[in-house]
Amino acid sequence: MYTTVQFLHSWWAYLLLLIVFIATVNALMGFFGNREYKPKDFRLALFALIVTHIQFLIGLILFFVSPNALQAITNNGMGTVMKDSTLRLLAVEHPIIMILMVVLITIGYSKHKKKLVSKPKFKILAIFYTLALILMLSRIPWNQWF
Ligand code: HEM
Repeated sequence: MYTTVQFLHSWWAYLLLLIVFIATVNALMGFFGNREYKPKDFRLALFALIVTHIQFLIGLILFFVSPNALQAITNNGMGTVMKDSTLRLLAVEHPIIMILMVVLITIGYSKHKKKLVSKPKFKILAIFYTLALILMLSRIPWNQWF
């Protein structure tokens, strides 16, 4: 169970990183280029939301089945986990920051849908998706991923 979920989470992360990066650059170019918002822009923003929510669900399962997350906290105690930078990243920082990232993508997507004109739509997407991308890049366990 653990290795399967971790494998899924690890590979889905590549797709998510790619899609959120493309959706963010697209929103920034749409905003600074004063481009008209088109159905493909909507589909890209929606696809980024969907892949993010799927990774969130896989991550949540992983949090419970991984020896490096909840089990590490219950077995070693929060004090020990917080002192160990690798355990702290996998059990605390990564899950919390990624949940924040999912919240930003979700707020950005639902707020941009309410806007009726191209420029404010791109602006909302650019702000929330860029913040989410930066947060995500800051707490991916790069050492064990690559
Ligand atoms: C939504 C964006 C997320 C991305 C892009 C992401 C990405 C990753 C990556 C690349 C790894 C390393 C995988 C490897 O070692 O090959 C990882 C590990 C992990 N992720 Fe996520 N994750 C996300 C969300 C979450 C969430 C929401 C949780 C929990 C609530 C979570 C829990 C974990 C745990 C516990 C590990 C360590 C697993 C282990 O090595 O035992 N992730 N994540």
